[in-house]
Amino acid sequence: MSADGPLWVRAPALDVAPRCVLVVDGVAVSAVAGECLATALAASGRLALGVSPAGRPRGLVCLMGTCQQCVALVDGRRRPTCLVAVRDGMEVWLTDGGGP
Ligand code: FES
Repeated sequence: MSADGPLWVRAPALDVAPRCVLVVDGVAVSAVAGECLATALAASGRLALGVSPAGRPRGLVCLMGTCQQCVALVDGRRRPTCLVAVRDGMEVWLTDGGGP
């Protein structure tokens, strides 16, 4: 959050949309069913989705599957989170190589 307010704000129409629960790094996270996983993670405050080989945080860059900066372990497979639709019970690990 900046001094001027939050960096990421949901459209008001999403407040009445059907919700689901996914598990991110072992923590339950509520999201709008079917929304983009990358934006659901950002809306939950998770802007750093991993660490680069240089040790810097990785995050959302292109939001169209090109840069691969948003890759996470989703239901056991490494996938760009910007190309994945959220569904109930989805398991996501953000740390590189993720998993318990
Ligand atoms: S943000 Fe670039 S591939 Fe997802």
